[in-house]
Amino acid sequence: MLHRGNERQVIADNLRPILEGFPPIDMLIYGPPGTGKSAMAQYVVEELKKHSPQVLSGTVDGFGQPSRFEVYYKLLRDMNEFVMRDGTSTEKLVDMFEEKARKQPMVVVLDEVDQIKDEKVLFDMSRYQKVAVILIANRRDIFASLDDRIRSSFSGIEEIRFKAYDEKELVDILEDRVKYGLRNNSVRSRELQKIASHASGDARIAINSLKLAAQKAETKGLKEIPGELIEESFSTAVEQNKSVSLQKLNDQQKALYKVLKERGEVRPGELYEVYESQVDSPRSKRSMRRYMKDMHDKGLVDIRGSTQDRIYSLQD
Ligand SMILES: Nc1ncnc2c1ncn2[C@@H]1O[C@H](COP(=O)(O)OP(=O)(O)O)[C@@H](O)[C@H]1O
Ligand SMILES: [Mg+2]
Repeated sequence: MLHRGNERQVIADNLRPILEGFPPIDMLIYGPPGTGKSAMAQYVVEELKKHSPQVLSGTVDGFGQPSRFEVYYKLLRDMNEFVMRDGTSTEKLVDMFEEKARKQPMVVVLDEVDQIKDEKVLFDMSRYQKVAVILIANRRDIFASLDDRIRSSFSGIEEIRFKAYDEKELVDILEDRVKYGLRNNSVRSRELQKIASHASGDARIAINSLKLAAQKAETKGLKEIPGELIEESFSTAVEQNKSVSLQKLNDQQKALYKVLKERGEVRPGELYEVYESQVDSPRSKRSMRRYMKDMHDKGLVDIRGSTQDRIYSLQD
């Protein structure tokens, strides 16, 4: 992966102690969407396993808000341990996991970790001294609303920031795709530049725009991707990205989004009142602000004004 050499090195170095049976350095990888967090975590873990096949690894995506049972079930499955869903208790899964972790070096990746509802999962993970834990989130304040015990047990965690790519970096990433990905189409670098300048640092949007444009050019039998197709595809990529983000929101966020949709512009106080009256177990005001920031990062919500006179609305 281009332009992530330092990050790759840091992550690899932090994992390495597990190969000698020593405690690794746990990590929180954070940064806006499309900055290569998930891809890099997978890449480094795969490299480590190629080099040291005894390493076990498991990845859980917080999307869908998995329960503690589901988290352990998926981790064990990734480690080729298949268990019956019915009639197996969570504690049994935890025991199986612990036993494996005692015997073999292990890496656990919790992606979109802020969506995992059961705090106990994080508490568990902080306790396995020899398991390397990689947490991934858009924001670094994931511990803010959690129990003090969890925060303090992850006190040695290393935070690794993945910044939004700048335009030049995105052009490099796109050029790389053109070189290895596009078959018969070619594309002018002026057009790549155009994609890069509109993608707000998000490699996913940039790459998808290019892919969509290439597919359209191919169905039209064009050898070169014209500028109009790029523009058209860019809007489609942004729309697709938005609708995926929408689907992935948790129930609390969906409720907040609905209020904005119905009311247009809303101040935090009003938003909280309506939200509180509409959901079963509303979270704190502080959580609401975090949810809104997260939706802002995902390109769904606009946040205007200073702290005193904040106004939320939907992004168009
Ligand atoms: N530095 C990079 N070089 C090449 N491809 C990248 C790079 N960063 C991200 N990508 C690609 O962009 C897409 C989004 O990356 P992803 O890791 O899913 O982002 P995040 O998890 O931060 O939202 C993926 O297809 C990924 O392979
Ligand atoms: Mg990701």
